[in-house]
Amino acid sequence: MLRTFLPQVIKVGPLQARAFHATSVSRVAVGDLIPNVKLQEDSPSHEVSSRDIFKRHKRAILIGVPGAFTPGCSKTHVPSYLTAYPELKQKGVELVACVSVNDAFVMKAWAESLGTGDKVKLLADPKAEFVKSLDLSFDATGVLGSVRSKRFALLIEDAVVKKIYVEPDNTGITCTLAQTVLKDL
Ligand code: BEZ
Repeated sequence: MLRTFLPQVIKVGPLQARAFHATSVSRVAVGDLIPNVKLQEDSPSHEVSSRDIFKRHKRAILIGVPGAFTPGCSKTHVPSYLTAYPELKQKGVELVACVSVNDAFVMKAWAESLGTGDKVKLLADPKAEFVKSLDLSFDATGVLGSVRSKRFALLIEDAVVKKIYVEPDNTGITCTLAQTVLKDL
């Protein structure tokens, strides 16, 4: 028998369409609830839920950085938040946190070297699961050996994203500095 192969027409209703899109990650948007992903603080055994952290604070800022101890992150980006800390507090920011795709021991050592104290909470996202869930990761294998976080800042209120700042080239330090975010508060 001669078989003819006709293109198969698959009807995609609204439910199937949603299921299809559920597998792809889309960039975090204003109005999104912070995803619930496990991060680490100080040691791999101290896991914290990303959503719980931000639910506990009315107004918070989260920055993402490409790497602990990199020159730009250590000398410019995080220090901008340490310097601006009193002003941020005045504007009602209860928490400043910083996430990086590094292990928790590296993040702890970085916190000590920067003297972040209670001003900036350093969080480890060792497998990049959190930044991938925000679609804020990028392939930095050529420079840093792995997928890393784009440099970003999020203004978060009650765990809901209110403003988003992402460096257009992933690693530059312009729109994500504390001074820029402060202007919007
Ligand atoms: C930095 O200095 O922040 C940096 C260096 C290399 C790659 C990404 C960031």
